[in-house]
Amino acid sequence: MRIDILTLFPEMFEGFINCSIIKRAIDKKCVDIRVHNIRDYSPYKNKQVDDYSYGGGAGMVLMCEPVFRAVDAVRDEDAIVIMTTPSGKTFKESVALELSSKKHLIILCGHYEGFDERIKSIVDMEISIGDYVLTGGEIPAMAISDAVVRLIPGVINKDSLVDESFNDGLLDYPVYTKPSIFRGMKVPEVLLSGHHENIRKYRESERVKLTNLKKE
Ligand code: ADE
Repeated sequence: MRIDILTLFPEMFEGFINCSIIKRAIDKKCVDIRVHNIRDYSPYKNKQVDDYSYGGGAGMVLMCEPVFRAVDAVRDEDAIVIMTTPSGKTFKESVALELSSKKHLIILCGHYEGFDERIKSIVDMEISIGDYVLTGGEIPAMAISDAVVRLIPGVINKDSLVDESFNDGLLDYPVYTKPSIFRGMKVPEVLLSGHHENIRKYRESERVKLTNLKKE
């Protein structure tokens, strides 16, 4: 898979693509992540990318021309163009799974007051990562890419994906490691028993309990 990220702050992605599982996925050639500065595509004086809103209002609006040019420069026939916006559809594991089978994603990060509405004409999906407003679309772009990349075959051991939260609508069960007693807090006896069937049942019931407790 290839992911092109279009942003005004490419430096924010340095840590993201150079650490941990994402870096490993890139090194293993499971994904090719390219970060582009929208400003480089501005034809205007001083590489202008935003301007005041017609009709007035606070904040600057991302202009069509630099964004259209940036998308045109990276787009191919397989590409799905995603816009990050708090007014988009809420991102879920099911969407991450759907996107993980695509060949090419282009993620457009918003900033300031938002995008010129006409930019939506070149966008396939508008995604929000939750009902709160961030200062820009960079963190949402990282959240989306991270959730998608870990589902690409070969990135994470398949067994790790089987029992985890959301893949069957249930949250993950709690896990413990050594020591078996820490500051008076004990690991549940059943996990120390070595009885696989009891452990399986205990974990299953914990998943149901946790899900009922945490989900609306
Ligand atoms: N941009 C600002 N806030 C956002 C959010 N919650 N989701 C996606 N993009 C955003």
